[in-house]
Amino acid sequence: MDITLTREGIEAVEEVLLAAIDSEVPLLNDASRHILSSGGKHLRPHIALLSYLAVGGTDLQEAAPLAAAVEMVHTATLVHDDINDHSLLRRGRPSVHARWGRTFALLTGDYMFAKVYVMMAPFGPAYNVIMANACSQLVEGETLQAVAAKAGTIDRETYKRIVSLKTASLFEAAGRMGALRGGGEPHVVEALAEYAYNVGIAFQVIDDILDVIGNPEALGKPVGADVAQGRGAFVAQGAANHTGEANGRTILSLRAGSEPAVVAEKEADPIAAMMSKLRTSGAIELARIQAIEVVERARRALELVPPSAARDELERLTYEVIERDR
Ligand code: IPE
Ligand code: IPE
Ligand code: MG
Ligand code: MG
Repeated sequence: MDITLTREGIEAVEEVLLAAIDSEVPLLNDASRHILSSGGKHLRPHIALLSYLAVGGTDLQEAAPLAAAVEMVHTATLVHDDINDHSLLRRGRPSVHARWGRTFALLTGDYMFAKVYVMMAPFGPAYNVIMANACSQLVEGETLQAVAAKAGTIDRETYKRIVSLKTASLFEAAGRMGALRGGGEPHVVEALAEYAYNVGIAFQVIDDILDVIGNPEALGKPVGADVAQGRGAFVAQGAANHTGEANGRTILSLRAGSEPAVVAEKEADPIAAMMSKLRTSGAIELARIQAIEVVERARRALELVPPSAARDELERLTYEVIERDR
């Protein structure tokens, strides 16, 4: 990610975040700092700041607190998500629950979420409603995902709904709030929200692909987590119905939940077996094609945004999201 345009804004975001979590309770300070200063990609704040610039905003300091609030939500969800996913590594460091245990990780995530209220308060009801909706959708998405993983079944519509709620909603809020803060015309604000939403969908599809074929060192988090959580075939199922009968049938044979047990009859390590089956099934390629189609939608939305260096960077990001390895 090229942050030339947003550097000053991202630096301000980092400062705002660290100032916001300052607590007299040392554990909350330490655990929040641990995750906040561990080198996330800052993609959501970057999108918020670029959306602000793309509508003609000129003072990044004006948008930075909103961009920071989005990143705070995202970071809090990671702390909780790693508890749910039993994931011990995040951003190349022990996850908060691996280091401090589940109780303190729950509390640290809660603490960070609560700080979002304080960060958003100065912006008034319109922005607060956007943020609150994104937060509740995120929880709905994570819940639907856990329900589907438990049931061991998923279809393309449910996959899309989960991704839309758990990931794209916060991206959309980033684009929308940045554009609003920059004083964008309503149709341009809408276009940037649409852009960010579609980038968010593609981002999660690629994340799910990387969980199967990615390099944990580059990612800074374990791979195979989705398979281990009984949702390894989600990305395959998500791609399946999309591609017509023949391909669809092959991929649909990768049933989430039930598959590891079937494979286990032949191989000792059901997770490794499921991963290798996913890798060779064609599912990954199909999911990637879908992600590419979704970022094309994001690029079409950008056509409604006046040309600028910020718009160019938003467009460049759509390619980067597909090609990323971290
Ligand atoms: C990880 O998000 C969670 C997903 C929605 C896939 P990022 O990959 O943006 O995480 P960081 O902030 O860069 O660590
Ligand atoms: C994204 O899902 C989590 C949230 C949107 C909270 P994942 O569970 O795939 O994210 P990673 O892979 O752990 O980063
Ligand atoms: Mg996870
Ligand atoms: Mg993931």
